[in-house]
Amino acid sequence: MEKKVAEMLNEQINKEFYSAYLYLDIANFYSTKGLDGFAGWFEIQAKEERDHALLFYKYLHNNDECVTLQSISKPEQLFDDDLSAPLKASLEHEKYVTGLINAIYAAALKADDFRTVQFLDWFVKEQGEEEKNSLDLITKMQLFGSDTKGLYMLNSELAGRTYTAPSLVI
Ligand SMILES: [Fe+2]
Repeated sequence: MEKKVAEMLNEQINKEFYSAYLYLDIANFYSTKGLDGFAGWFEIQAKEERDHALLFYKYLHNNDECVTLQSISKPEQLFDDDLSAPLKASLEHEKYVTGLINAIYAAALKADDFRTVQFLDWFVKEQGEEEKNSLDLITKMQLFGSDTKGLYMLNSELAGRTYTAPSLVI
């Protein structure tokens, strides 16, 4: 594997773990607000991000590449009392991650590394879903979150989310 591509994949392990950490912090925020459904939704989101990190980890090992784990940054977002702020931060974060995936994809294509391109195809699709989910949540919050009954219903809906392992098997 080309050195640059391997380095970017290794770096992505850290980015995915940071995503998990960020979403756990958002779950933490909603938990303190008494919104257990929102908290549970983001706890599952954190698990998915951990799964993503492990996929990059496993992919590098499967291709006989070294993995070097780096320290994970502290989530710095402070949301005060704005219940919508974490949702907007999530969307922005997902757009940022989409950019990272696209950059690795471009580097792999440039290196004629079609195996990595194929591996990343799943992530390209996943990022589309992540951005849509984030945007849908913002829209629902705008529509229903401004009164207590609506917020209660939305919290109940989000509580119904269940964890499923990623469909990508490598
Ligand atoms: Fe991810």
